[in-house]
Amino acid sequence: MDKLIITGNGPLDGEVWASGAKNSALPILCSSLLAQGPVTLGNLPHLQDITTSLELLGRMGVDLVMGDKMAIQLDASHVTECHAPYDLVKKMRASILVLGPLLARFGKADVSLPGGCAIGSRPVDLHIRGLQAMGADISVENGYIRATAPGGRLKGATVFFDVVTVTGTENLLMAAALAEGTTVLENAAKEPEIVDLAECLIKMGARIRGHGTDTITIEGVERLHGCYHDIMPDRIETGTFLVAAALTRGRVRVRRTRADILEAVLAKLEEAGGHVTTGDDWIELDMKGHRPKAVNVRTAPYPAFPTDMQAQFVAMNAVAEGTGRVVETIFENRFMHVQELNRMGANIALEGNTAVVTGVEKLSGAPVMATDLRASASLVVAAMIAEGETLVDRIYHIDRGYECIEEKLQLLGGKIRRVPG
Ligand code: EPZ
Repeated sequence: MDKLIITGNGPLDGEVWASGAKNSALPILCSSLLAQGPVTLGNLPHLQDITTSLELLGRMGVDLVMGDKMAIQLDASHVTECHAPYDLVKKMRASILVLGPLLARFGKADVSLPGGCAIGSRPVDLHIRGLQAMGADISVENGYIRATAPGGRLKGATVFFDVVTVTGTENLLMAAALAEGTTVLENAAKEPEIVDLAECLIKMGARIRGHGTDTITIEGVERLHGCYHDIMPDRIETGTFLVAAALTRGRVRVRRTRADILEAVLAKLEEAGGHVTTGDDWIELDMKGHRPKAVNVRTAPYPAFPTDMQAQFVAMNAVAEGTGRVVETIFENRFMHVQELNRMGANIALEGNTAVVTGVEKLSGAPVMATDLRASASLVVAAMIAEGETLVDRIYHIDRGYECIEEKLQLLGGKIRRVPG
């Protein structure tokens, strides 16, 4: 297994670009199953999860043609298999996002039930309940969700989500696009990735309004056609580089990104003492050599502070002036990075769903273990300021969500290299 070797090297300084958003690309790739014609996607990030999605769609019979500049054409006109096997779903739980499109387009789906993961139990009961409200017959047998749409077509319905769920909203949004009648999704998630998905579906001919609010209305249509769509920038990758600038007291400009989808994060970086400037498609954070100040953070659904930035802010608070409280409200087990950061000399105490982080003058390099995607990002950015060498193990986690992370950090002056395991 590959590892990363990182040596603290003082303030990061320079420019880097944001890749396409993983959490937008995954649902949009699955939405290609809805279209009777080729869907071409640009700005796709080169990530393990994208490769897994393409393998899944390819196995179903989706024709895949790789274009230049990482654009890819997907044509689901000849799908033969409405089956998502365990061996792929266990690698990437977001495979659940084929359930809605398969059921809506082909009237049947056989999808392995995703298991729990490092950060929480993560059930999909709200996905299933929403599709049942749209008339689907669903049973879970031998670890598989077996679903059919009586009469071959789902029916419009009003669905209220008990808990705000991102992929739950995305699955129902895609299913409703081809349903008979109107669907209203209430207490829907408002994440920018959902807006990106809706905009792509609208290009395919879907009738959607209210995306980006907590009430989305979809008037189902008979068929959807092909389109071209560029995946939006990755706000979490962007935020990760800005936090790396903050905790190394450096200056980083991220290009090909958007400030309007990162307001909660930028506000916290300013509170930490960062000087934030933005342009049409760039964001710069300059610490002017100052040590960050500790901030209190509470995760919640968009537009509040994203849970996918929680670990990185714990790492920043670990070297900040003062004490910061970080409250995780979305996932029940998303502090696996805390013990690893404490191994690097951090002073973090856990109290239920709160990490109480008392900043220390300096961290020291150590061998550490990545446990999930964002935890691994927090260890990598912490190692950028630690004295000596840090060895990050199990970096397959970081490859799932960060495109060429070591090359990008090297561009900023980071001393980081990948060693084969
Ligand atoms: C999406 O996961 C993201 N993944 C996650 O990013 C992100 O952390 C999460 O949203 C929250 O923002 C993708 O978009 C592929 P949820 P998702 O359904 O949709 C509970 C990363 O690091 N729930 O919004 O799976 C659930 O247990 C990843 O890139 C139910 O109870 O998250 C959780 O407590 C990690 N029943 C809460 O809702 C359901 O049917 C929110 O989860 C569905 C969810």
